[in-house]
Amino acid sequence: MERIVVRGGRPLIGTVRISGAKNAALPIMAAAILTDSPSVLHRVPRLTDVATISTILRALGVSAEWIGPDSLRLVPSRNGPVEAPSHLVRQMRSSICVLGPLLAMRGAARMATPGGCVIGDRPIDLHLKGLNALGARIEINGAHISGRADRLRGTSIDLKGPYGSTVLGTANVLMAAALAEGRTLIKHAACEPEVQDLARFLNGCGAHIRGIGTPTLVIEGVKSLHGTEHTIIPDRIEAGTFLAAAASTGGEITLEGLRADHLRAVIEAMGRMGVEFHEAEDALTVRRPGPLQAIGLATSPYPGLPTDMQPQLSALLCLTRGISTVREGVHPCRFTHVGELQRMGARIVQGDGQTIIEGVGQLHGAHVTAADLRGGAALMVAALAADGETTISGVDQIDRGYQTLEERLTMLGADISRSEAPPAEQRHRKSA
Ligand code: EPU
Repeated sequence: MERIVVRGGRPLIGTVRISGAKNAALPIMAAAILTDSPSVLHRVPRLTDVATISTILRALGVSAEWIGPDSLRLVPSRNGPVEAPSHLVRQMRSSICVLGPLLAMRGAARMATPGGCVIGDRPIDLHLKGLNALGARIEINGAHISGRADRLRGTSIDLKGPYGSTVLGTANVLMAAALAEGRTLIKHAACEPEVQDLARFLNGCGAHIRGIGTPTLVIEGVKSLHGTEHTIIPDRIEAGTFLAAAASTGGEITLEGLRADHLRAVIEAMGRMGVEFHEAEDALTVRRPGPLQAIGLATSPYPGLPTDMQPQLSALLCLTRGISTVREGVHPCRFTHVGELQRMGARIVQGDGQTIIEGVGQLHGAHVTAADLRGGAALMVAALAADGETTISGVDQIDRGYQTLEERLTMLGADISRSEAPPAEQRHRKSA
């Protein structure tokens, strides 16, 4: 079990290249199940979540092999198994995105229910509603999902949920509808760039999807899909995390290979905090000319402020000298970072789906634990700015979504290292 040690207070300066988006790569990899010939994906991030979905795909008869530093070749098989290994599904909730492809391509699917996680309940009712509307028959028995489908048929489906649409639910229904007979209309489809990227990949495979990037997707089902070559979009959350890290340390960095248009809401929010941006083609420079300002934030589905940036921006707000409010409008329980930031001296009051942050100007080093991916990223942002040394445990959470993070932060001037946790700490975490 590893931990990261950060000696804070060094401004980040330099240039960093943004990786491909984890949340685009995972469903696109699952979509290979739908195809009848190989695909090659470029700009795939080397992350533990990508390794997990690769293992799941292999168990389902789809081979996933690296053929370059960030290029992955996926070779489907028409009649592979239909059961996704339970221990992997439980490890990574997003494995639910093999459900739609299995039903559409192989007529059956079996997997564990992904269950809740530290950021909330994470129900799948909208996934099931959409797939059942297409003609699948899905049953949940305790902790198991099993589904069958003969020929799926296009229909009209509304994916509106209590917190807007559902990203992976839209992905699941979109993938199944691509091979359904006739036309499917998805209302209240998620508009996130990662869903758009999946739709573009599917169209590259021969699907007919219109309305990409809008809340209404129209899919004319086709009989078969072939493989294609596709480059994954840049990771807007990785980019946003680097922006927050640079702003927390008062540095100046340039991000290359990103899509600034996917980060409008983050740029707008950080702009209100007093952070400056300079946009050039394919690059974005961020600097903090003066003290950070307290603001009100509210997350919402795209194009709103992404929930996956809320913890990192909350860490930044601890460094102001005023009162900020943060409303979490997508995952109302996503606050694992709060207690850990408090260990670093933050003053945060947590209520129902929201926090009030009294900026303390300066945080100090402490021993903290990442309980989830973005909560861990928030601790990193805080640690880089803090006085003294911060030890972050639970590094496996951070590794799920950020590749070579320490190497890249070191290149930007951070004092950061990774080491094995001492045996006593390992015993403690195993029993936790
Ligand atoms: N919801 C329902 N019913 C459903 C599905 C979702 O009520 O059937 C609710 C959820 O409980 C939640 C909200 O709708 O409150 C949004 O959930 P969504 O389904 O959109 O989340 P997801 O598709 O499971 C993806 C990302 C998350 C990101 C969310 C929201 C991937 C692999 N995961 O999850 O990313 O927070 O969309 O944008 O794409 C992360 O990268 O750290 C991460 C958690």
